[in-house]
Amino acid sequence: MGSLFIKNANQVITVKGHSEKPATKEEMNELHIIENGAVLIENDRITAVGPTEELELKAVNAEVIDASGKIVMPGLVDPHTHVVYAGSRENEFNLRLNGATYMEIMNNGGGIHATTRATRAASEVELYQATKRRLDKFLRHGVTTIEAKSGYGMDWETEHKQLIVAKRLNEDHPIDIVSTFMGAHAVPKEYKGREDKFVDIIINEMLPRVKEEGLAEFNDVFCEHGVYTPEQSRRVLEAGKKLGLIPKIHADEIEPYQGAELAAEIGAISAEHLLRASDEGIKQMANAGVIAVLLPGTAFFLMAEAARGRKMIDAGVPVAISTDANPGSSPSVSMPFTMNLACLSMGMTPAESIVAATINAAHAINRGREIGSIEVGKKADIVIQDVENFIQLNYHYGMNHTHTVIKNGKIVVQAV
Ligand code: NIG
Ligand code: FE
Repeated sequence: MGSLFIKNANQVITVKGHSEKPATKEEMNELHIIENGAVLIENDRITAVGPTEELELKAVNAEVIDASGKIVMPGLVDPHTHVVYAGSRENEFNLRLNGATYMEIMNNGGGIHATTRATRAASEVELYQATKRRLDKFLRHGVTTIEAKSGYGMDWETEHKQLIVAKRLNEDHPIDIVSTFMGAHAVPKEYKGREDKFVDIIINEMLPRVKEEGLAEFNDVFCEHGVYTPEQSRRVLEAGKKLGLIPKIHADEIEPYQGAELAAEIGAISAEHLLRASDEGIKQMANAGVIAVLLPGTAFFLMAEAARGRKMIDAGVPVAISTDANPGSSPSVSMPFTMNLACLSMGMTPAESIVAATINAAHAINRGREIGSIEVGKKADIVIQDVENFIQLNYHYGMNHTHTVIKNGKIVVQAV
């Protein structure tokens, strides 16, 4: 590997200064931009950032990328996906547009259950290939790191298969994948009415095996009316915590259910969705420093009111955003469109949408020191966007402006 010199960028959006802790309140509106900026990369690391004329001398032997007329920003981080799955659910999209609701479909054996059947039936190779195609698309949208959850198995064999596929793709694909175990994603049909029994199996059998094989860093649960109660969710998350698995929680997605409060109480790293989070829950999250991972694409696709992102930021909650990429409630890998929606449906500013998709997203998966900003010493995960300034990213909405993607110091996507 050699060195790479990106120069003449209209703007280098550094998002610096928040490697230790996520940005909150006004900090989320500060991008720390360098006009006519440059970035020097050596091997897989960023070694200098500054105005082009200052860096030029240091970069004599480097391969040059001329970013004239464009902006340079940190690689996007997607901190919440269900990307390892088989099958497709466009039929449910059609059913919903004919009047059915997401929860009705799920309670009739579709939804997460349909994807679970398809994922159980798929071979490891099929699952690997289907997921790889999605990762290629993520990369073309400027995403360089994602989190990926299991949860379409709900039996050990399939949960294990999903986590192994994520692990292999983390090794084989340019995108870095951080894994979350989510055995408590739905109640398997076999355990309907005996949810506590399944919770016992997760706690006593699955979580220890996840830990033993080093298959995940995080542990997540779908805390929702008709799925897992706050009490059951607490049991699953506390059990994971004892094993060193960091708690995350799908909270208050469809109905208010004290999920945000639970996240604060158990010290979850993040609470996700939060469409119906209460005022009190938001306050408690701010006090406890729980990151809100907001998924405006899911609200958009379910035709629901988006989470109160503006209110959360003003209340001091560190906010991140994510696609939620999954076959039912958000079949998209577009972080750029998610950023558009953060502005247009949650009242966030263009600058806040960038912070939420980079450094705060990195913190939501415990990677704030390593990625999410353009700073000396950090991993060289960088995107060049074909826009003249950062506001245009959201102004020209619904478009993919990704021009060049650099992952670990290597060019992995380049527009022709
Ligand atoms: O984040 N809420 C639960 N899980 C996913 C949906 C998964 C699916 O419908 O397949 C979500 O929205
Ligand atoms: Fe989700």
